[in-house]
Amino acid sequence: MKTYLVTGGAGFIGSNFIHYMFNKYGENIRIINVDKLTYAGNLENLKDLENNPNYSFVKADICDSDAIEKIFNENDIDHVVHFAAESHVDRSIRNPEVFVQTNVLGTLVMLNNAKAAWELPDGSYKEGKKFLHVSTDEVYGSLEEDGGYFYETTPYAPHSPYSASKASSDMLVKAYMDTYKFPANITNCSNNYGPYQFPEKLIPLIINNALSGKKLPVYGDGKNVRDWLYVMDHAKAIDMVIEKGRLFETYNVGGHNEKQNIEIINIILDTLCEMLPDSDPRKAHINKDLITYVEDRKGHDRRYAIAPDKIKSEIGWEPETMFKDGIKLTIKWFFENEEWMKNVTSGAYQDYYNSMYK
Ligand code: NAD
Ligand code: DAU
Repeated sequence: MKTYLVTGGAGFIGSNFIHYMFNKYGENIRIINVDKLTYAGNLENLKDLENNPNYSFVKADICDSDAIEKIFNENDIDHVVHFAAESHVDRSIRNPEVFVQTNVLGTLVMLNNAKAAWELPDGSYKEGKKFLHVSTDEVYGSLEEDGGYFYETTPYAPHSPYSASKASSDMLVKAYMDTYKFPANITNCSNNYGPYQFPEKLIPLIINNALSGKKLPVYGDGKNVRDWLYVMDHAKAIDMVIEKGRLFETYNVGGHNEKQNIEIINIILDTLCEMLPDSDPRKAHINKDLITYVEDRKGHDRRYAIAPDKIKSEIGWEPETMFKDGIKLTIKWFFENEEWMKNVTSGAYQDYYNSMYK
């Protein structure tokens, strides 16, 4: 039975990944989730697993080397799946320090402890061990509006403190692979959307604001392009890279689904109206007049687009969920989980929202 150490498993992608893995492998795997439970971490996301004997949760900071070492000492970890990070670009522009702390130093702590646990006296590694570092397409910088894609060979050119910190963490993983032959893969994925996404990110923020009749803030001219991938397709890609990825390789993961932000907002409004019954009072205030153009994000990357050719040809992964279906699944999940949204948007979120969008 394999044991996975998932970092940041109480966040958006981490919790979806844990659900994906138990749905796929059932009792044949163990997962230990280590998470600091920052504002973005939420154990509600994993409530259904609380009593699963193959799942356990450790509340710890990945920068706390003693806590991480203890987990490795007490468990024979086969794979580390490293999600834990500060993940929001806007927050990184206001407060870069914590991004360097968690994303760079935290990754170093994870690498050092996995290396210490897995390395043999001759410098080779115990059979079958792998560290999967979950990264982002933002490390490659920004593309022109009229063409080009991010390949694994595209030079790194991060612009925000967030993407610079993720690029630094990728470089550390690459350095460990080159210097110590440390068994790892890196995945660089495009924008995810789906259940459990924190409403500081575009899609859940627009769904929540539209349902509450609040303004829908669009940065700049609304024509920045992102390549959207349904989160379960990302979870599947990570599992496949763990199983089939060649050691020391990087794999780009993307949806082949480029859309301007304003298109995304219009699709969400149309889909909400289509899905809500006429009797639902929220339907009355959902309309395009809510769209409000606001000051642009500083250093706002214009376009991201992934070429997922390598993961397709080597591993056989392809995006499966069409955006029109994924957005319906996402909206349906938010309809069914109003309480979740209420809980995460109370308290500190209101302060964040007011200072961000004043
Ligand atoms: P998220 O912000 O929803 O979740 C991050 C999780 O990490 C939270 O549970 C948080 O509590 C935890 N965490 C933060 N700091 C920690 C620390 N010091 N110690 C332990 N836990 C800590 O993020 P997400 O959107 O789920 O992203 C997960 C990973 O995927 C990140 O590494 C991110 O860079 C990467 N990624 C995200 C996207 C996307 O579209 N969201 C796309 C590509 C890659
Ligand atoms: O590309 C992968 C990255 O995608 C991940 O590495 C990040 O962790 C994740 O947060 C995401 O980054 P983005 O900055 O692209 O996502 P966000 O949802 O914050 O913004 C998407 C686009 O929408 C971006 O062009 C900014 C714009 N936007 C965002 C918000 C929150 C708005 O116009 N208005 C908003 O209120």
